[in-house]
Amino acid sequence: MILLTGANGQLGQCFRQLAARFPQFAFHFAGSADLDIADRRAVQRFFQQNRPDWCINCAAYTAVDKAESEPAQARRVNVQGVRNLAQACAQAGIPLIHFSTDYVYHGTKNAPLRETDPVSPKGVYARTKLAGERAALAVHPHTMVIRTSWVYAPQGHNFVRTMLRLAADRPELRVVFDQIGTPTYAPDLAEAVLTIIQKVENKEVAPADLSGIWHYSNEGVASWYDFAQAIFDLKKLPTRVLPIETRDFPTPAQRPPFSVLNKGKIKAAFGLTIPHWRESLEKCLQVF
Ligand SMILES: NC(=O)c1ccc[n+]([C@@H]2O[C@H](COP(=O)([O-])OP(=O)(O)OC[C@H]3O[C@@H](n4cnc5c(N)ncnc54)[C@H](OP(=O)(O)O)[C@@H]3O)[C@@H](O)[C@H]2O)c1
Repeated sequence: MILLTGANGQLGQCFRQLAARFPQFAFHFAGSADLDIADRRAVQRFFQQNRPDWCINCAAYTAVDKAESEPAQARRVNVQGVRNLAQACAQAGIPLIHFSTDYVYHGTKNAPLRETDPVSPKGVYARTKLAGERAALAVHPHTMVIRTSWVYAPQGHNFVRTMLRLAADRPELRVVFDQIGTPTYAPDLAEAVLTIIQKVENKEVAPADLSGIWHYSNEGVASWYDFAQAIFDLKKLPTRVLPIETRDFPTPAQRPPFSVLNKGKIKAAFGLTIPHWRESLEKCLQVF
């Protein structure tokens, strides 16, 4: 059985929607009301009662700006919660698949980032996500940490839904053009993860080969400005997008200016083909 924590979040719901396409797997979807990952005893009890074979952790504290004023809450979920899951997975001898963020990077490199590039997280969210990765790998080396970026889906809090909502009553929007990265369509990421699990179950890949840090986003490169423009182009909306600089749109937490992820490692190891971000955006927009 695959235990999926944080099942009602943006990414968690994508796994739920995909489950029917992977009938060979039994899932247990646990939302925050079913399992608080930061409660160590509850996690231990849950593992003893349910005996999962895999754990996919979609639970996280993701309010990037709010985290600046709630560091303890962010740490509780992103560090303590992740450590609890990793400990329970280590005890049960099962793999943990966990998600982290491109925000762990904040360097000056402007070529696609590799998993071995130096990290320099700025802000509470980014620092707690990095600490969570490290805590998980320290207690359970068979943790697969997938760093991803700019995640969106037809549901949840995300940039696509925000742009469409704002466009409904504003003729023009100002969007930063000096933060460069790649959007990730959450259903693509969920499908990649289930494909990887399938390869392990089919013995094409050893469970130990999942260990460590991996990158996943869609292919291609964009600024947030380009992303917004593509949303309005594809939806044929007349909204004008004006490029602005990050300094004109100050936020409590800093975002990395460049966080394009190099996906060479995950593609080569698991034979994945990753769609271009525009192709996946088009798919997502069909829902609206
Ligand atoms: N969204 C992005 O752009 C982005 C970018 C890079 C990486 N990521 C990473 O991708 C992963 C999935 O993100 P997402 O966009 O799906 O986030 P999300 O929509 O905010 O979902 C997170 C889920 O975690 C749950 N949660 C919070 N605290 C919990 C706890 N103590 N125990 C159990 N569940 C808890 C939340 O439930 P409640 O709502 O009930 O609290 C929520 O359903 C996260 O690890 C995130 O850091 C996201």
